[in-house]
Amino acid sequence: MRIPIIAGNWKMFKDRDEALKFIYVVTDRLPLKDKVESVICAPSVFLRSLVKRQGEQLRIGAQNMHFADQGAYTGEISADMLKSINVEYVIIGHSERRAMFNETDESVNKKLHQAFKNDLNPILCVGESLEVRESGKTEELVGRQVELALEGLEKTKVSKLIIAYEPIWAIGTGKTATSEQAEEMCKFIRNKVRNLYDEKTADKMRIQYGGSVKLSNIDELMNMPNIDGALIGGASLNPEDFIKLVEAALK
Ligand code: 13P
Repeated sequence: MRIPIIAGNWKMFKDRDEALKFIYVVTDRLPLKDKVESVICAPSVFLRSLVKRQGEQLRIGAQNMHFADQGAYTGEISADMLKSINVEYVIIGHSERRAMFNETDESVNKKLHQAFKNDLNPILCVGESLEVRESGKTEELVGRQVELALEGLEKTKVSKLIIAYEPIWAIGTGKTATSEQAEEMCKFIRNKVRNLYDEKTADKMRIQYGGSVKLSNIDELMNMPNIDGALIGGASLNPEDFIKLVEAALK
């Protein structure tokens, strides 16, 4: 059985007071982490403060990191830095980073290797644009993203991986993929991993859906057999909503 995982991606929202207020509201109110994993991926400047106050059930993640061990990379943060402040998760290859910050399938692959080398839990994001969907090439593109991202990774690593299927046209638009569309692609991704590795690896690996997930649609999404959780932007910013979203994954 795969443990569901709900992750909030705050993107570039909240100041320090808002971040701390959130953590004070949610800690102690989240379900047990062996029933559902709750993660907040926050801007890097708040990570340490949040880790210190995360409590028993919440885990903290970063939204990006560099693939090198260290070096002259002004403005970047390393896996070792994240690890040294007890950050446990990291989002890799979010579509906003692919579109606006030159993230490529190659850098995504290097970052996944680096995350595993440093015992961080990566959340790999994949997903197609509206243009790709309308041209009928969704599976081709997402299949390629998955294959290139996983290149050279052993199956013991891949079984621990979290993949977030986030169709770009559903991000921040209020336009959610239907639960059938989301399930279809999450199933496709699991089959892809089954073909690249084996049955056991594919069955262990968790797949999230992301893109306008909110209280009104999470139940339906979580009912789908290949959807193990959600990566949530806008709706994760409100602490009361975040608690309810995590609770929805329990059912
Ligand atoms: P929204 O939930 O705001 O659509 O964002 C999804 C997302 O990009 C999470 O990484």
